[in-house]
Amino acid sequence: IDQAMIVFSPSGKRGSFPIGTSVLQAARELGVDLDSVCGGRGMCGRCQVQCASGEFSKHNIISHVENLGESTSVEARYQRIHGVFADGRRLGCQAIIQGDLAIDIPAESQVHRQLIRKALDHANITINPAVRLYVVDVQEPDMHDPSGDLRRLKQALMIEWGLTGLNASLGILRQLQETLRKGKWQVTVAVHENRSGAGTFDIIGLWPGYKEAIYGVAIDVGSTTIAGHLCNLATGQVLGSSGAMNPQIRFGEDLMSRVSYVMMNPGGDVDMTHAVIEAINDLIRAVSTLSGILPEDILELTFVANPVMHHLLLGINPIELGGAPFALCTDESLQLPAAQMGLKVHPLASVYLLPCVAGHVGADTAGVVLSEQPQGLDELSLLVDVGTNAEIVLGNRERLVACSSPTGPAFEGAQISGGQRAAPGAIERVRIDPQTLEPKYSVIGSDTWSDDPAFAMDAAAVGVTGICGSGIIEVVAEMFLAGIINSDGVLNGELAARNSRIEANERTFSYLLHKGAEDGGVTVRITQNDVRQIQLAKAALYAGIRLLMDRLQVERVDRIRLAGAFGSHIDVKYAMVLGLLPDCDLSQVSSAGNAAGSGALMALLDKEARTEIEQIVRCIEKVETAVEADFQQHFVEAMAFPHKTASFPELGK
Ligand code: FES
Repeated sequence: IDQAMIVFSPSGKRGSFPIGTSVLQAARELGVDLDSVCGGRGMCGRCQVQCASGEFSKHNIISHVENLGESTSVEARYQRIHGVFADGRRLGCQAIIQGDLAIDIPAESQVHRQLIRKALDHANITINPAVRLYVVDVQEPDMHDPSGDLRRLKQALMIEWGLTGLNASLGILRQLQETLRKGKWQVTVAVHENRSGAGTFDIIGLWPGYKEAIYGVAIDVGSTTIAGHLCNLATGQVLGSSGAMNPQIRFGEDLMSRVSYVMMNPGGDVDMTHAVIEAINDLIRAVSTLSGILPEDILELTFVANPVMHHLLLGINPIELGGAPFALCTDESLQLPAAQMGLKVHPLASVYLLPCVAGHVGADTAGVVLSEQPQGLDELSLLVDVGTNAEIVLGNRERLVACSSPTGPAFEGAQISGGQRAAPGAIERVRIDPQTLEPKYSVIGSDTWSDDPAFAMDAAAVGVTGICGSGIIEVVAEMFLAGIINSDGVLNGELAARNSRIEANERTFSYLLHKGAEDGGVTVRITQNDVRQIQLAKAALYAGIRLLMDRLQVERVDRIRLAGAFGSHIDVKYAMVLGLLPDCDLSQVSSAGNAAGSGALMALLDKEARTEIEQIVRCIEKVETAVEADFQQHFVEAMAFPHKTASFPELGK
């Protein structure tokens, strides 16, 4: 038989093959990364290739598709269904080699392709999921071969796909016989790579005939909000994202108040677990509807959460996290059946939880590290995720240290007299004239500043309802810059005599930021106590960061990444004016967006990312703020604006 020389790019792999071989076959023999779900049946369209030089055969291996009841070529059918095949691409499983060829494998046709996700905070995600679909034709039983249907299914998976060490649960056995017969002995199988033993696999889904796609959801369970991204597990495409409030708020605003709730109400943890699972099920339903898929087609979920949320999600009483030594029930990553957690997805779907770092540094921080990859850089990165606790990581490729610091909820607008969450009506930006002390501000939901004539209309439409976290940071910083408060955070009462913005209330003073309308609108004042709350929160944050810097014996950090909603809303300049963060080139301080959620997404789409984060987390050194003797000292010094001793030369630049 005549032979032809075939070269694949980008791998550069080459070999000689008999004329008449399919491109997919040649790729497999050379170990070239060319995707396929249907195993060359011309159904999945994943094996697309492009001819760089030479020519493919004009006709396909399969010339018509019988099960459609019409005589069309496989590629024409595929093109019609999917509307693809740009640039003269062909299905690799259908194109036949008839002479020497150079073949390009486009990125989308590679099994381990890279997905550049601009929408999700430039995380560079490899698509290599733990669950994959395989189409097989199973040998029909006959009187001379007494083997069971499962044995023949396993045989088919081994012969066509080289899969061994396969396990099937009772759920699969219960549907096996009916599905095989319904599909006329052709089925699509979802196989999950088992983590307990390398090279073993669980069959977790079974469908008659060809199944086009399965899905996964990455979920970030925060104390305040829950966010989820729904993806196609094969292509990595994010089909929809959705967020919801964490209903546990009704049991306690912050983490510690939820733990106290359990301490005072035995069984309260069960109620909180039910509430969060119900909210997650609602979110999954909503994002599925939005994306036009069924929740039953979701076969994998990944979760990140702080330690208390992590325990409550699993139905583990979080009471031990309420006091020293803050022991976690488990800090390891977990792989569990979704049904056991009460999640309403495919009945055999599985859940992966990222590992926790320590008692107060959770799987959410593991997600941030996975997405930010500080361990890959020479520069010293400071990662800060501010919630009711700040979770902080500092380090580079040599060493990583982490701690959690009790900032409390002030940065989220809680425990502030006019404070509220970031929602329409909240004051979010503030400027104060240092001469007149007159403020101007903008509110969420309006594009204008309060001194703009259009604002009155906007404000009337939106209505000022309070001040959110970023607003409170700006107003306190502006009050400091305008001399309304001194570096100890004390309001200057002498100003009250000559400026009506400064109001006396008993023994302290407050600053009048917004006066509500006569007819009962909300008035927003910044009281001495509000300033105090911000001082306590920022001192805790700075002291935590400082402890980590001490541990690494450094005086400066090279870059700062702020994760979460706090990071995307605050103006870093003001954060530095108040001394929330250590001195750093301002151009190197940026928001990391929902980095924890991006980490969950990476773990969903790439099984190697799980191994990676499990290894990194074991190397992170934990610093426990509660027992570090220097924490108190750092805390006291950081109470001053911007700081008692530290300087911030970058701010002056
Ligand atoms: Fe599925 Fe070619 S391998 S269409």
